[in-house]
Amino acid sequence: MVLLVVLILSLVLCSIAVSVAQIKLPRKYDGFPYSDDEAGEGSIMVEAFLDPLCPDSKDSWSPLKQALHYYSPNVSLIVHPFPLPYHSNSYIASRALHIANKINSSTTFPLLELFFRFQEKYYNDQTLNMTRASIINDITNLAILAVGNSSLLAFKDGFKDPETNTAQIISFKEEEEIPRTRKKDQAIPRILVGLRT
Ligand SMILES: *[C@@H]1O[C@H](CO)[C@@H](O)[C@H](O)[C@H]1NC(C)=O
Ligand SMILES: *[C@@H]1O[C@H](CO)[C@@H](O)[C@H](O)[C@H]1NC(C)=O
Ligand SMILES: *[C@@H]1O[C@H](CO)[C@@H](O)[C@H](O)[C@H]1NC(C)=O
Ligand SMILES: *[C@@H]1O[C@H](CO)[C@@H](O)[C@H](O)[C@H]1NC(C)=O
Repeated sequence: MVLLVVLILSLVLCSIAVSVAQIKLPRKYDGFPYSDDEAGEGSIMVEAFLDPLCPDSKDSWSPLKQALHYYSPNVSLIVHPFPLPYHSNSYIASRALHIANKINSSTTFPLLELFFRFQEKYYNDQTLNMTRASIINDITNLAILAVGNSSLLAFKDGFKDPETNTAQIISFKEEEEIPRTRKKDQAIPRILVGLRT
């Protein structure tokens, strides 16, 4: 029996309505699983749409992790990086998460937490006089703290790799598509948390 329970929690973290053109379907399910544990039968999957540079996403992160640990192993978490258009540097930060994930997936969440910790540095006003190149450079230096200095060149190359760009476009697109096109195990009930209006 296909049990499809999608509870859309209007936490309205940074509310936004999204409309983007169709792009081809991704090869794998979008998002970063918080742990390697497969969600078992009878478990609930929480899908969180987080903007690494959004203060409300930052505030929601700690309670979300607490809830996850409390209900473990009955609840699992997938995070979709979701840059809000009015946070100018969020797209770069979200792409950085995909790059880190590609280099070493264990560094994705440490980098997300670094973004939350140093978020103010990348707000619009604070980066007003910076070029895009210098913001990328700055974010790369932050990311190195998570992925390790030996990956510096690989990380820089990541920003030139069209695949990491496509991956981020898919994450963005996923916010629109998830309730309509279920691509993974349809038997796992899901709770969507985050950026829905
Ligand atoms: C997890 O699910 C099992 C089986 O339904 C239940 O016995 C257990 O209490 C649940 N654990 C938590 C922390 O909710
Ligand atoms: C990936 O990152 C984790 C966490 O920092 C680290 O323990 C592990 O050694 C890294 N793996 C590789 C292949 O570098
Ligand atoms: C940006 O440049 C303007 C003009 O030079 C200056 O007034 C402002 O303080 C600068 N802002 C930041 C965040 O450095
Ligand atoms: C990091 O790596 C670069 C190039 O590999 C090197 O120039 C730099 O000194 C290293 N920095 C640290 C802190 O190890």
